[in-house]
Amino acid sequence: ALTEADKQNIRGIWKTVFENAEENGRTIVIRLFEKYPETKVYFKNFKNISTMEEMQKNEQIRIHGLRVMNSLNQVIQNIDNLNEVYSILTHLAKRHQYVHRVDVHNFKLIFGVIIKILKEALGATFTEEICTSWQKMLSFTYDYLVSCYH
Ligand code: HEM
Repeated sequence: ALTEADKQNIRGIWKTVFENAEENGRTIVIRLFEKYPETKVYFKNFKNISTMEEMQKNEQIRIHGLRVMNSLNQVIQNIDNLNEVYSILTHLAKRHQYVHRVDVHNFKLIFGVIIKILKEALGATFTEEICTSWQKMLSFTYDYLVSCYH
């Protein structure tokens, strides 16, 4: 389980990151597509989008980036209320499984991307200890999403 120290490590970093939700969300989604181009297949009308410029101004990317940030924000805001977190994640899993047809392992990919981007963006502020707390939270989240998939 997450300790009080973990929660503080997560909230402290999140506050800075969420202030710039649109830009950081976009960065995460673009990096996912660059690093794992196969993840693009889930998004409609994406076949012809590949250059950085096209991705930067793509509305679907902007919106999914914001949605990712807002859902993570909901989870982090409710980190002391596990029932609420589980209900948010159950909904997220169901939508991605049954509506968007996204295989669950893609969440592992995006969580890896998130850690990488936090490291790059925050440098020394993102200490080993803080990084471990984030990895713990994202791996609990991933395990729970897996348990929601059928
Ligand atoms: C839509 C959140 C990861 C693919 C959505 C929506 C939300 C969301 C809130 C729209 C609302 C809904 O339909 O219920 C997240 C979060 C993620 C995540 C929080 C991880 C932190 C992924 C990944 C993929 C993906 C890894 C695929 C590789 C999609 C697609 C849609 C969608 C295809 C439909 C959007 C559209 O048609 O433009 N996501 N998502 N998501 N998500 Fe995700």
